[in-house]
Amino acid sequence: MRHLLNPLDFSVEETNELLTLASDIEHNLKKYAHVCDGKKLATLFYEPSTRTRLSFESAMLSLGGSVLGFSSANSSSAAKGESVADTIRMISCYADIAAMRHPKEGSALVASMHSQIPVINAGDGGHQHPTQTLTDLMTIRSLKGRLDNLTIGLCGDLKFGRTVHSLINAMVRYPNVRFVLISPDELKVPEYIREDVLRAKGIEFKEVSNLDAAIPELDILYMTRVQKERFFNEEDYIRLKDSYILDKAKMDLAKEDMYVLHPLPRVNEISTEVDDDPRAAYFRQAQYGVYVRMALIMTLLEVEKPC
Ligand code: CP
Repeated sequence: MRHLLNPLDFSVEETNELLTLASDIEHNLKKYAHVCDGKKLATLFYEPSTRTRLSFESAMLSLGGSVLGFSSANSSSAAKGESVADTIRMISCYADIAAMRHPKEGSALVASMHSQIPVINAGDGGHQHPTQTLTDLMTIRSLKGRLDNLTIGLCGDLKFGRTVHSLINAMVRYPNVRFVLISPDELKVPEYIREDVLRAKGIEFKEVSNLDAAIPELDILYMTRVQKERFFNEEDYIRLKDSYILDKAKMDLAKEDMYVLHPLPRVNEISTEVDDDPRAAYFRQAQYGVYVRMALIMTLLEVEKPC
């Protein structure tokens, strides 16, 4: 039995295979309509979510399976003090696979250690968000036609943004990928990403604070929200929340084939005037998330691919 806790749980070959399956699902959706007949997905969301939870549910329904679960800690027995370990033991009796989001780093790992069914990490605190990463990889591969030879700008809250941490971990495995890390000083990537992932692997990167100066060299601009819920101090959040606002004037400085991604939700960091720019890919990215999660459910449940 396999879980997905970290984007590196799949090798590059397995990741590419999963992306190819997701792409086939995108183009031949009907073919997959019954591959999970009789299977159940549990969505255990201790933290708010729109895209991840609903795209998981949409994915399982599109595969012919069914879904059950909860969308806040308050509507489960966690509110009465039940541990993640006990909850997942119960869920193992009710479902075939589980997707879990939790505010604490490492909680998906704990769940996997007590589970009889595959556990998917749907975001654990500021740590990892591997299914968002698979979504990001599919988006980049679909739009750019490759996952190598890219300059990727990551902009905003690089300290608390788990999607950023997961994406860096995944992208360093592809050749000739370089990073431009754009953030205020207070929101730089954590040291373990800078030292253990980027420097240790000899990946080219630079840390800057000026988006206007950085944007012309980028193939991908990955914008992120300043993560209010992870700040200890409201004053710091208010001071930093509007550090970057991508607008038409900034897009004029970018390459014609640079794409803007964002895991969403956005707050102020991308002006709505950018939404109509053909390079704004964040809503397409959310759609790719359904196909990727369909492919992931099939892979972890070892469902046979239809002819
Ligand atoms: N991208 C993402 O994780 O969105 P949600 O928080 O809405 O699930």
